[in-house]
Amino acid sequence: MTDPVKTLQEKLAAAKLGGGQDRIDRQHEKGKLTARERVHFLMDEGSFEEIGALVTHRSRDFGMDKQVFPGDGVVTGYGTVDGRLVYVYSQDFTVFGGSLSETHAEKICKIMEMAMKNGAPLIGLNDSGGARIQEGVKSLGGYADIFYRNVMASGVIPQISAIMGPCAGGAVYSPAMTDFTIMVRDTSYMFVTGPNVVKTVTNEEVTAEELGGASAHSTKSGVTHLTAANDIDCIAKIKQLLSYLPQNCEDKPEKIPYELGTEVRTALDSIVPESPNQPYDMREVITGITDEGSFFEIHPDYADNIVVGFARLGGRSVGVVANQPMSLAGVLDVESSRKAARFTRTCDCFNVPLLVLVDVPGFLPGTDQEWSGIITNGAKLLYALSEATVPRVTLITRKAYGGAYDVMNSKHIGADMNFAWPTAEIAVMGAKGASEIIFRREIKAADDPAAKLAEKEAEYGEKFANPYRAASRGFIDEVILPRDSRRKLIKAFAMLENKVARIPRKKHGNIPL
Ligand code: HXC
Repeated sequence: MTDPVKTLQEKLAAAKLGGGQDRIDRQHEKGKLTARERVHFLMDEGSFEEIGALVTHRSRDFGMDKQVFPGDGVVTGYGTVDGRLVYVYSQDFTVFGGSLSETHAEKICKIMEMAMKNGAPLIGLNDSGGARIQEGVKSLGGYADIFYRNVMASGVIPQISAIMGPCAGGAVYSPAMTDFTIMVRDTSYMFVTGPNVVKTVTNEEVTAEELGGASAHSTKSGVTHLTAANDIDCIAKIKQLLSYLPQNCEDKPEKIPYELGTEVRTALDSIVPESPNQPYDMREVITGITDEGSFFEIHPDYADNIVVGFARLGGRSVGVVANQPMSLAGVLDVESSRKAARFTRTCDCFNVPLLVLVDVPGFLPGTDQEWSGIITNGAKLLYALSEATVPRVTLITRKAYGGAYDVMNSKHIGADMNFAWPTAEIAVMGAKGASEIIFRREIKAADDPAAKLAEKEAEYGEKFANPYRAASRGFIDEVILPRDSRRKLIKAFAMLENKVARIPRKKHGNIPL
C-alpha cells in the first residue's frame, strides 16, 4: 500500500522542481532567479502560502499528455511584504518556457479574484514565452480572461507587473493595464511583434533589446515606469513602491509617525537663480522639501521635463508632480503631459495626496507638437488634475505662465492650497514676450528700440512677474519664504487629511485619451 503522506510529499517536491534541475541551471546561467526564488525574496520570511501547486494542464495534443509538470508553469499564492498582505503570481520559465496554458491562466485569475475580494495588492512576476503554442485558442482565451480581470481590478487594488524575462505578443497587454511596470535590464523585453516579424513587414533590422528592452521602454516609449539592474533590485523596487501605496482604494497609505519640528530649510532660499532663463534642478527642491531619502522617482528617464514620483512629507505618502527647468525649461509637451496625467490618476485612485511644484513657461510650440496632439495630450493632465479628489497642494517656485498656470493644479481647477515663493512669476507670458507684443509700436518708434524694450520689460515685470497680483485675488493662498516650505506643506497636508470631495455622479468621465 502507498503511504499517503509520502505521496503528497513527492508530489509537492516535484512541483518545487518545476521543469527540472537542468532548466533551473540554465535560468541561473542567464542571470535570472527562478520563479520560486523570486517569490522567496519578495515575501516576508515564511509568510508565503502557495495555492494550486498541484494544478496540471489538460492538453493531450503533441505528446503533451506525457509532459506534465505540477503547477503548470506558474507559482501562485499569498503572503506578506513588510507585514502587509499581497497576492503574487510568478511565471516559471523552466516549465514550457513559462508559457500560458488554459490552466496556467486559471491559476492567475483565481489569485486576481482573491486579491480583489480581499482588498490587497497583486504582484505579477512575468517570465514567459507567451501563449502555450500546443494549446492554441484556449491559451488566447486565458490571456483575455486575465486582461478582463486586470481592468476590473484597476483602481480597486494596486497592480504591479515585473518583467523578468520575455513578454511578447498580446501578453504585453496585461502589464500595460496594471499600475506599474518594472523591467529588468538585459534579461527582459516586451514587444507586440518581435524582430523577425518586424524584418518581414518593414524590412527593419533590429535586435530584441533595441526593439523592446528596458532601455527602449524606459526612455523612448515610457512603457516601463522603472528599470531594475537585476532580479533582486526589481524585487526591492516592488517593495519600495508598495510602501507608498495603500492596500486598496478604500484604504489610505501608511503614515510613518512623525513629530513636527521647526523644519526650516535655508538651502531652499538660494535654489532659484536670479535670471528667469537660468535652469536649476527641481529635484533639489523636491529633496529639500520632503523627508530625507524618501523621494522615489517614477519614469526617471522618460519625458524628463517633468518629474514625478512618490515621497513622504512628515511621514505621509505624497505623489509629486514637478516641472523640471533643467530640461526644455520645464515646458509641457505631449510626453510630459501624458506622463504627469497618468501618475496623477494613479495617485488619485489610491488616495495618495498630490504635491505639484510649478516652474513652467507654457506648452511647447511647433508643428511637431500640434500634429502629435498637444491639445489632446495637454488636456489629459488638465483633466486628470481637475478630476482628482485627493488633497492637492501647489507650490509655484518661479514661472507659471499662460495656460500652463491653469493646468498645473491652479486654485481654479480645485487645488486645496496654493503657495508661491517670492520668486514666482504668474502671468500670461514672460515679461520680454509680453512687452514685444503690447508695446510693439512704442518700441518701433523709439530712437533706441532695445533700450525701450528693456524699459517696458522692466515695467511689465514689476507689475506682473511676481506672485502678488495672484495673491491679492486669492488665487495664491500664501506667499512663503522658500525656507519655510517644508513646514507649510506638512501642515497643509495634515490639515487636508480628512478632505471629502466628490465629483458629480456619472457612469464615468470621458478623459481625452
Ligand atoms: C510552449 C514554449 C513556448 C511557448 C517557449 N517554450 N515558448 N512552449 N509554448 N510559447 C518552451 C521551449 O519549447 C523550450 O522547451 C522552453 O520553453 C525554453 O524555450 P527556449 O526556446 O529554449 O528558450 P530561449 O532560447 O531562452 O528562448 C525563449 C523564447 C523562445 C524567445 C521565448 O522560446 C520563443 O521564441 N518562444 C516562442 C514565443 C512565441 O512565439 N510565443 C507565442 C507568442 S504569441 P524545452 O522543453 O526545450 O525546455 C502570443 C499571443 C498572446 O503569446 C496573445 C494574447 C492575446
